[in-house]
Amino acid sequence: MTSDIALKPRRVADSAAEMAELVLPHHANVHGSVLGGTVMHWIDLAAAVVASRHSRRPVVTAAIDEMSFQAPILVGQLALLRAHITLVDRSSMEIQVDVDSEDLLTGEKRHTSTAYVTFVAIDPTTRRPISVPPLELVTDKELEEHARAKERRRIRLEHRDHLRATRTIR
Ligand SMILES: CC(C)(COP(=O)(O)OP(=O)(O)OC[C@H]1O[C@@H](n2cnc3c(N)ncnc32)[C@H](O)[C@@H]1OP(=O)(O)O)[C@@H](O)C(=O)NCCC(=O)NCCS
Repeated sequence: MTSDIALKPRRVADSAAEMAELVLPHHANVHGSVLGGTVMHWIDLAAAVVASRHSRRPVVTAAIDEMSFQAPILVGQLALLRAHITLVDRSSMEIQVDVDSEDLLTGEKRHTSTAYVTFVAIDPTTRRPISVPPLELVTDKELEEHARAKERRRIRLEHRDHLRATRTIR
């Protein structure tokens, strides 16, 4: 791990990203709605944009928290992804990605998923984790989200350690 005290703090708004994906037949399952794995791919990409913008470093996905799909997104509808950073530690960043569907004929929007993705910045040569700029929290909402993100990080790492200690690999 390298430390760089000159890393300038960045705000949540500096790295926030939005993405729209039109659901095409090749994205769909046999029921005419988008595959869960495809939505997860888009979530990963939206979160990668945020982590890259915040850190301006190469980043890799370390973890995606458990997530659910609350409503289908049908072929011909849009998947709207909004991603923002909620927590920065030394090399890791938590990104929240909210997904909505938009019916292009009616304009109706529905929330379908929220995911929390952890990215880690790595040194391009050693591929070992490196420090990222601190996060400057501005609004009360950002402070509240950050407190919740800290608790999620604690639980996530505890869960990871438990899985590592108890798993058997075949
Ligand atoms: C992510 C990775 C760089 C972490 O390396 P590591 O040797 O575990 O490094 P460390 O133990 O020093 O952890 C580095 C940071 O990652 C975080 N981290 C590691 N595993 C994590 C997990 N499962 N969930 C959340 N955070 C995790 C640590 O908390 C630490 O955060 P901090 O620096 O902000 O305190 C390494 O596991 C890796 O390269 N994984 C593959 C990434 C990849 O290829 N992703 C694409 C999908 S396959």
